[in-house]
Order: sequence, then structure tokens, then C-alpha cells
Amino acid sequence: MDKLAAFYSSTLGKKVLMAVTGFILFGFVVVHMIGNLQLYLGAEALNHYAELLQKNRPVLWSFRAVLLFCVSVHIVAAAQVWWRSRSSRPVKYKVFRPPGVDYAARTMAWSGPIIAAFIVYHLLHLTVGSTHPDFISGDVYHNVVVSFQSPLVAVTYIIANVLLAIHLYHGLWSFFQTLGLDHPKLDPWRRRLAVTFAVIIGAGNTSMPLSVLAGVVQL
Ligand code: HEM
Repeated sequence: MDKLAAFYSSTLGKKVLMAVTGFILFGFVVVHMIGNLQLYLGAEALNHYAELLQKNRPVLWSFRAVLLFCVSVHIVAAAQVWWRSRSSRPVKYKVFRPPGVDYAARTMAWSGPIIAAFIVYHLLHLTVGSTHPDFISGDVYHNVVVSFQSPLVAVTYIIANVLLAIHLYHGLWSFFQTLGLDHPKLDPWRRRLAVTFAVIIGAGNTSMPLSVLAGVVQL
């Protein structure tokens, strides 16, 4: 137990936890996007899929508990690592450009909290329905299409999902690094893999509000 606590209190321990929980959350994002893309198959397909998920309450709540646990651990560990690296540098660099840290890495500190805020809004909007103008419980197709007909809502989703893609890109890149898979020979593959997944998720998720705005998907 002491060893586990010591491991968690080390920066490496926190990064391993972030990698493991981040990977599980990444899995959720992929599955969630594939499920949501049934929007293109029409109301019946999407609503039937949503009904299947909602029907099995014990399984649904078990998944929700795992997700909540992973999100909490991911956020707490990320905040602790961020705070630790900030506190160990009492004098700010004049030009903050650490070697090897690219644009995506520097955006992690603010993209993370924005994505967390988006998830809270998203749950109130499409799961609870309290911020939705015309929420119909069980009619997921209607709820999604009506939402994205509002340019403000559609643009909010597009921005959040572009940020999520950038976050995932760096997250996947770091995931391999934490696992010790950073080697000059592997790095080009690591980068390609991270870019490919980030682009697929970014494109899949932003395509939905864009298609509704363009009138390709309608009620
Ligand atoms: C355009 C993109 C997205 C669409 C159209 C979408 C759509 C939906 C819909 C319709 C629901 C409610 C499902 C139901 O009540 O049966 C939902 C729930 C949810 N979404 Fe999304 N979503 C999108 C992106 C995201 C992203 C990027 C995340 C996380 C990073 C996310 C996380 C969640 C979570 C955690 C739930 C609650 C699942 C549950 O019931 O336990 N969604 N989404």
C-alpha cells in the first residue's frame, strides 16, 4: 500500500494514471462518436441505438461510474502535475519555449478545462435536457438536430471538438512516451498514429453540427 502511495505521489505515477484513464476515456470518445454517426442513418437508427443503451440500467450505470472515476482521476492528476511543474519554476522564463514542447502540448493546460466545461454543458444539454430549447426524452435524433440548427450551439460544439482533437493528439503522443515507447525510430509512427486518430475524431464529431447547419441532416 505504501509503495502504491509513493508511486502515485511521484510525477511518473501521476502520468501513468493520466495515461491509463486517458486511454479509457479515448475509447469512450471513439465508441460514442461511432454511435452518434448513426445520425446519418436517420431517426429510427439513432433512437433505436440510444434506446438499447438506456434499457440496460445496471450496465449503463456501471459505465457511467467508470467514466466518472476516470474523468476525476485524469483531472486531479493533470492539475497536480501542472501545479508541480509550475511551483518548481518560481521565476518565469522570459520566453517560455521548452525544447520538444509543441503547440498542442502548450494548449493542454487550457484545452483540458475547456473540454471539462463543455462536457458539463453537453450533459445538461443532451442528456438532462435542461439547456435544450425543445428536449424530448428518448428522441435523440430530434434533440441533436434541433440543437445544431442553432448556429451558436453548432459553433460551440465545433470549437469544443476541434479542441478535443488537439487534446487527443497530444494525449496519444504522451501516452506512448509514458509507456516508454518514445524512440527516434518509433517517433514518426507515433506522430502519424496520433494525428490520424485526432483527425478522424475531430472530423467525425464536427461533421454532425456542420451537416445539420448545411441542411444535409434535417428533421
Ligand atoms: C457532435 C458531437 C457529439 C454529439 C452529437 C453527442 C451526442 C450525445 C447525445 C445525444 C447524448 C445523450 C444520449 C442519450 O441520452 O441517450 C450524449 C451523451 C453523452 N456525451 Fe456526447 N455527443 C457528442 C460529443 C461528445 C464528446 C466530445 C464527449 C466527451 C468528450 C461526449 C460525452 C458524452 C457523455 C459523457 C454523455 C453521457 C452518456 C451517458 O448517458 O452516460 N459527447 N452525447
